[in-house]
Amino acid sequence: MTVQIESADRRFPLPMLHQTRGKRSAVTCHLKCDDACTKPVPNQTDNPTFREVAGTAFTRRLLLQGVGVGALAVVFGGAFGATPEADATGLPASGAGAGAGAGWGPGRSPLRFAPIAPVDATVDAMTVPSGFQWSTILRWGDPLFSAADTFDVGAQTADLQARQFGYNNDYTDIIVIPGTRGREALLVCNHEYVNPGIMFATSTDEAVLTERRKVAQQAHGMSVVHLHRNSRGTPWTYTVGSKYNRRVTATTPFSFTGPAAGSALLKTTADPSGTTVFGTLGNCAGGTTPWGTVLSGEENFNGYFRAAGLSAEEARYGLADKASANGWELIDPRFDARSSGTANEVNRFGWIVEIDPFQPDSTPVKHTAMGRLKHEGANVIVGKSGHVAAYMGDDERFDYLYKFVSADTVRGGWSCGHHEPRKYSRSDREHNKTLLHSGSLYVARFTGDSPVAEFDGTGALPSDGSFDGTGEWLPIVLDGVSQVPGFSVEEALVHTRLAADALGATKMDRCEDVQPNPMTGKVYVACTNNSDRGKVGKEGATEVNPRNANRDGHIVEITEDRHDPRSTTFRWSLLLVCGDPSVNSSTYFAGFPADQVSPIACPDNVAFDSVGNLWIATDGAPSAIARADGLFKVPLTGGERGHVQQFLAVPRDAETCGPVIHDQDGLVFVAVQHPGEEGTFDAQRSYFPDYVAEGAVAGAGAWRGPRPAIVQVWKS
Ligand code: FEO
Ligand code: CA
Ligand code: CA
Ligand code: CA
Repeated sequence: MTVQIESADRRFPLPMLHQTRGKRSAVTCHLKCDDACTKPVPNQTDNPTFREVAGTAFTRRLLLQGVGVGALAVVFGGAFGATPEADATGLPASGAGAGAGAGWGPGRSPLRFAPIAPVDATVDAMTVPSGFQWSTILRWGDPLFSAADTFDVGAQTADLQARQFGYNNDYTDIIVIPGTRGREALLVCNHEYVNPGIMFATSTDEAVLTERRKVAQQAHGMSVVHLHRNSRGTPWTYTVGSKYNRRVTATTPFSFTGPAAGSALLKTTADPSGTTVFGTLGNCAGGTTPWGTVLSGEENFNGYFRAAGLSAEEARYGLADKASANGWELIDPRFDARSSGTANEVNRFGWIVEIDPFQPDSTPVKHTAMGRLKHEGANVIVGKSGHVAAYMGDDERFDYLYKFVSADTVRGGWSCGHHEPRKYSRSDREHNKTLLHSGSLYVARFTGDSPVAEFDGTGALPSDGSFDGTGEWLPIVLDGVSQVPGFSVEEALVHTRLAADALGATKMDRCEDVQPNPMTGKVYVACTNNSDRGKVGKEGATEVNPRNANRDGHIVEITEDRHDPRSTTFRWSLLLVCGDPSVNSSTYFAGFPADQVSPIACPDNVAFDSVGNLWIATDGAPSAIARADGLFKVPLTGGERGHVQQFLAVPRDAETCGPVIHDQDGLVFVAVQHPGEEGTFDAQRSYFPDYVAEGAVAGAGAWRGPRPAIVQVWKS
């Protein structure tokens, strides 16, 4: 069924209306993900299924061990049931030289709160714990360079938008500027996509629609904004006109780095060198490096193009010959990739980008060594050797988990997980900014340790009491050399999904944020959901993705062998199998009593506080468990391991993004993305964050309508 809804610039179809599963809104599906769930799963490979791999492993192990199936749980349960703490780790030791970040360590977080009750999905409010309050730092349209650029929803232009905070913020960090005694910081934020239907009044005037498409291009990308405050522990205010303030948009020049820079696969008529591309698109999650730069993932870039869609490479990335949701191919020929001169423009998106917020004039880069996927984000950790590992998810049903390991090592020491980066000499910092230019790229293969027959798709725990096993990082590129027969290094990096197919990687339930815990080095993979698992012709439940029609998602915990991020083997277990345990018996909370946790569904972004607790932001809880999306804390060690506690809930139709946990500062930050997503300009569904009363005159820069925003929460 195709249903039309009225949008600002045309009637567009909503193929996902009444079809969504585990994703809140058909509007979100259309604008953000190009209706991915209405289309064939791009991964049509029949690479070895998990069951086959698991079965092979069992056979081999059983032969080696000389034991029967009945003894399996006994033999392997003890070996893999426990998760030893990081002791002789490959991670930087605290203190001398390679400190883990002053003030970070085990113990109890200073941020104490009583969990909030789950909030109904129709509530249009920010809900925070008792005794806490919230405010916005930046909203869509706030002026960055001059107070004269006041937001006026009825008079928006592309020029204005280029000088204002963008739309639909996702990854967010607040990086304290060293040497300012905690009184100045840089806020760095992604702007993933736009929703013209609630941003603009309806129009059919072509000139108006053209300008709006240009507004949309300037509302995408990233923002860097200078923040200030009078003392530590108090909320932030942004500085209009600071030298640090910057907008990166769909038209900002980027340089390519790495083995595929200059490759024939990246050349277009407009850029015969294959080294420079304009803009970044679909920027979803991200990560901040120890050297104070920000990585951002270009995710659903396919939805911005009209392509020929005839090749296996285009099909594998969801590129097709159809009008795009944003209509940019009507105003900018490079988004029409059907001609030979523009065909490679699609290859110039889908990368991890790196921006240096401390150098406002620097050219941001796209790292080809990290592969081309629908990149959710990238988070780095530095091993004891000084090599950098970056963990990365490809957010598509049945796609893969990746790791990049740098060829070179960090100079000048490093701090992990601290929001105030250490000071580097200029030369050391410039060196560290080259670490993601060259190295090795891997894709993950998971093997379970329980008999495959125990996974029937219901999510029932296997007889050994845990979803767990071992894994391998399969090399796609090793030190700049392709490891995939038939793929040059450029082909392996530009068509990474196809290279990973050839290696037989494990098909996952949509890897979103993937982040190493700076305290332990263990890696946490948020698998948000997978409506197609177990459908006819699709891979069914496995130990690492144990539910068919996985609506609520789960979280995988990975422990690298030898605790070395360079390791090519690992152990894994599921930390959480999400859902509302009051109505869903397939939930699992690392053994913590299910009747004592906050219900949680569709984990998306993750973060850590100063003592290594995991914080999880969700996207999709309204359609999965009829609750507003929110932010949840989960201890990972001791008796509280698995005790999910909800900290906040976001307003109607919004997803919770970009959590930043400055617990030592008493502050928590989230990006509120797509509030009121399912409304129209004339019938809005959210009035966050200004909540201007009906009939009241909005003050300067305010609006009675939804504005994606960065929110800070602190104790009153
Ligand atoms: Fe933009 Fe995978 O969420
Ligand atoms: Ca098991
Ligand atoms: Ca996401
Ligand atoms: Ca994160």
